[in-house]
Amino acid sequence: MLSQLEQIEKKALADLESVKNEGSLAEWHVAHLGRNAPIMQVFDKLGQLAKDERPVIGRRANEIKRTLEAAEAERSGQLRQAALSQALQSERLDVTMPGRQVPHGRLHPSTRTLRRIIHIFAEMGFQVYRSHDVETDEYNFQLLNFPPFHPAREMQDSFYMAGDYPKNNPLLLRTHTSPGQIRSMREYASMDPKNPPPIRIVLPGMCYRYEQISARSEIQFNQVEGLAVGEHITFSDLKGTLTDFARRMFGAQVRSRFRAAHFPFTEPSAEMDIECFVCGGMGCPVCKRTGWLEILGCGMVHPVVLQNGGYDPRRFSGYAFGMGSERVAMLIHRIDDIRNFWMNDLRFLEQF
Ligand code: PHE
Repeated sequence: MLSQLEQIEKKALADLESVKNEGSLAEWHVAHLGRNAPIMQVFDKLGQLAKDERPVIGRRANEIKRTLEAAEAERSGQLRQAALSQALQSERLDVTMPGRQVPHGRLHPSTRTLRRIIHIFAEMGFQVYRSHDVETDEYNFQLLNFPPFHPAREMQDSFYMAGDYPKNNPLLLRTHTSPGQIRSMREYASMDPKNPPPIRIVLPGMCYRYEQISARSEIQFNQVEGLAVGEHITFSDLKGTLTDFARRMFGAQVRSRFRAAHFPFTEPSAEMDIECFVCGGMGCPVCKRTGWLEILGCGMVHPVVLQNGGYDPRRFSGYAFGMGSERVAMLIHRIDDIRNFWMNDLRFLEQF
């Protein structure tokens, strides 16, 4: 009987060796530890054995059962371990691989320049006033003292809206930010018509002109208009403000100059140049060998325009200026083709 027990153990352990997965381990359990397994039958037959044999056989049978249970548990652990490491192997991750680049968004160079210009004027006490992109002929030209046959009013120069509009007052895309002068003056004056408040504002925004697109001109561009209205405002205030702006924008050592010019809505009028900071005034291709770069038009607000805005020109005076912000961005970053701004070429945009 004892040797029979040894056989049962040997066979069970040998079978366990060839178990390769959880499924055949379950089969092995039924065969060697299940209700009808040989070792279990030994327990069933214990009662039939001789009295002195029973404790010996019983103890040994119990030992074997515990051995087989332990061996099964160990095998089960090995199988689970093997399955796990196989899964790890097949889902192998290379943690040293470089990550995928997520390109960062950024502000358009034109927006950045616009914001810098606004920021400088904000420091000087100017507020931002937003005016309309779509204007009437009245605001864009008539109230700004443009004579009826001024060339800027030609179809070849302005984008007019198709539609049923009065012949003497068609809609158009604003050709400059100056119509905002009238709109803002009227709004300020309406607060207290007898005693209109002083004005210190900048008016940024997109302007549109029907132009042949080239390296120097685009059909859309940003302008920053400036307007100061009050009592005792003089041309010196205009010069001082813009000279200070140029220093803050282009550097403390940059020189500037004013040249006489003409605009229907300012009198006297001027254009402001800054010393070419590429060549320091010596003359180079950027300044077309003049040593100077033009950045804006300006002047004292014309009495007719003050009147149209609701400010009595006998009591009030003011100055206005308008600069092209892409123009300024081109000078600062030495961009030689204005078409880059709306081309949306990432190779250009990513440089800013
Ligand atoms: N509106 C003018 C332009 O577009 C610029 C300007 C603005 C000139 C204000 C004088 C005063 O060229």
